[in-house]
Amino acid sequence: MSIILAIESSCDDTSAAVLRDDVLLSNVIASQKVHEQYGGVVPELASRAHEQNIIPVVDGSIRQAGIDKKDIDAVAFTRGPGLMGSLMVGVSFAKSFAQALSKPIIEVNHLQAHVLSHFINRGEAIPEFPFICLLVSGGHTQILLLRSHFDMEVLGETIDDAAGEAIDKAAKIMDLGYPGGPIIDRLAKEGNADAFRFATPQIAGYNYSFSGIKTSFLYFLRDRLKEDPDFIEKHKADLCASIQKTIVGFLLKKVERAAIDHHVRQIAIAGGVSANSLLRSELQRVCQRHHWQAFIPPMSFCTDNAAMVGIAGYYKYLRGEFADISLPPYTR
Ligand code: KG4
Ligand code: ZN
Repeated sequence: MSIILAIESSCDDTSAAVLRDDVLLSNVIASQKVHEQYGGVVPELASRAHEQNIIPVVDGSIRQAGIDKKDIDAVAFTRGPGLMGSLMVGVSFAKSFAQALSKPIIEVNHLQAHVLSHFINRGEAIPEFPFICLLVSGGHTQILLLRSHFDMEVLGETIDDAAGEAIDKAAKIMDLGYPGGPIIDRLAKEGNADAFRFATPQIAGYNYSFSGIKTSFLYFLRDRLKEDPDFIEKHKADLCASIQKTIVGFLLKKVERAAIDHHVRQIAIAGGVSANSLLRSELQRVCQRHHWQAFIPPMSFCTDNAAMVGIAGYYKYLRGEFADISLPPYTR
């Protein structure tokens, strides 16, 4: 039996979790509100907020787990990719905390952690290898073929913007607030997804491109606003529903192709955008049509959290993969 304390601080959420083997005992997340007024994450403010949050968050995770500090067998942390200043806070904290307890540290890749969140033991079915995972976050969009926990082949990825970035930018163009993903998701529920059509780019293989969708959305609105300054206000819900349908449809079309070509019958989604309600329901639909199995993470494991860092850390712990105390974070 092992107890792992996990720390995540790669972007704008400070999180700590405790796992007993693959079972989650606690998962505390402090989201930073300071960025809302700027319409995006301000790196300097993020690292400052991490510094304020890290001790209460770690303390809370240990208390909620009902364990004692000395029960911890290893400290796992997100080494990268992410914002350097943000990563520094979590990495330095994890190192000093582990050193004070004379326990080993485990470095975790943030993207692997998103994918491995599916292996947290919730008493439900977990994916079997090989399976395909669509990783969609604010910084990444990849179709991965998993052959084992740490054997992830990138079948395709975005050549420019990430899916979450495209959604956030569409929200920004409409002046809806930040982060735009959850806002568009909510507004889209009241809109007609076929009200407007936005073309998706023809791009080879399993790769994606989102910058063109964003630009055509921008030009479309610019033209309409010339005729009617209230266009966005009047058609907000329809615009959200239409752009969301475009992005989700594009994402799933490639995933479906990849699964057929690789004879894979299990598909998972992970990352912040996997919280999107249309992506979740459409994945179910695609999987039902093919008699495939869909793996959809609970909402708390979609956006950044330390639970996923803990499960990745647990599998590395089993393999005895510990990190050296001198190792630096990486941004990409
Ligand atoms: O994984 P994540 O928390 O951070 C990164 O590692 O990037 O993902 C954040 C992204 C943001 O772009 C946010 O707008 C998006 O996930 N997101 C959503 C939803 N909730 C979060 N996008 C669409 N629908 C949602 N419900
Ligand atoms: Zn993330």
